[in-house]
Amino acid sequence: MGKSTVLTLTLLVIIFLSIPTSLDAGMTVQLERIEQIGGEHLVNSTMVRVRKFNRTTFTMNGTGILLLDLDETYEANVKVAYSRLGNNQWNEYPMKIGQKNACQAMVEEYQQYQYVFIDNTNLPRIPEGTKRFCPIPKGTYWFRDIAPDASFVPPVVPAGYWRMTLESWRQGELQGVFRVYARLTKGLI
Ligand SMILES: *[C@@H]1O[C@H](CO)[C@@H](O)[C@H](O)[C@H]1NC(C)=O
Ligand SMILES: *[C@@H]1O[C@H](CO)[C@@H](O)[C@H](O)[C@H]1NC(C)=O
Ligand SMILES: *[C@@H]1O[C@H](CO)[C@@H](O)[C@H](O)[C@H]1NC(C)=O
Repeated sequence: MGKSTVLTLTLLVIIFLSIPTSLDAGMTVQLERIEQIGGEHLVNSTMVRVRKFNRTTFTMNGTGILLLDLDETYEANVKVAYSRLGNNQWNEYPMKIGQKNACQAMVEEYQQYQYVFIDNTNLPRIPEGTKRFCPIPKGTYWFRDIAPDASFVPPVVPAGYWRMTLESWRQGELQGVFRVYARLTKGLI
């Protein structure tokens, strides 16, 4: 079973949800799994899981522990890769968030998209106009049935398997890698 983190969840859910578009009724985004590679000194995500919510929807559920305050020495970047057939042949997709410090990401990215999931988590709520939110406080954060919403995916995005990778860096050293896997289908399933 996969693992993930508060920050990952946040940023990856943001990516999934951040591209408003016209509705395509036939499109479904199905969450498959989440994964943490390294970073155990930073995050304990063993209790965050992808669970079947109903016949067609899987959700991210559970409780993660952020073990340290994340100040501006922590940085993150997000990359997206695509596999048409799901055979582990991943191709980088030109959609990414360049590396920036965690605190900056909270006011520049997170703040404007938090409304999408904020009722389903106790992650920080950041008022509009906040100039600085630092550090991201350590603590126990829960998530309740968070699911990506297909209506935010632009129609040009191809069906297939998608992998979002968040890398966490500090002072030039990789701290941990967090991934979310999802499958995008179009038309009847
Ligand atoms: C992570 O949290 C779980 C549940 O709270 C605990 O059982 C486990 O020992 C923790 N893992 C580490 C590496 O601290
Ligand atoms: C997610 O967790 C909530 C509360 O802990 C629970 O009520 C719900 O059934 C869980 N969802 C799934 C899909 O297991
Ligand atoms: C499954 O749950 C999602 C989210 O609440 C909902 O949009 C969808 O219609 C449900 N699907 C079925 C088959 O009940």
